[in-house]
Amino acid sequence: MICSCFGVGRNTICAAIHEFGLSSLQQIGRQLRAGTNCGSCLPELRAILSATLRDQQSVGDGESSHRRGIVQ
Ligand code: FES
Repeated sequence: MICSCFGVGRNTICAAIHEFGLSSLQQIGRQLRAGTNCGSCLPELRAILSATLRDQQSVGDGESSHRRGIVQ
């Protein structure tokens, strides 16, 4: 459990980042409400966000390599 205020776990956060293309803590908060109450989960959210975005970028299929070329 990452955000105990709203009962949001790591898998939910990762899935939402993938599914909705979230790229900021604000977007996670808007989608899941995680991090929008006491804020004590924000460092964890930030870590999950950056790890998940990094994973997305290093996925080796053709489509994301193509996308990576555009992003960087
Ligand atoms: S634990 Fe996430 S806002 Fe409080």
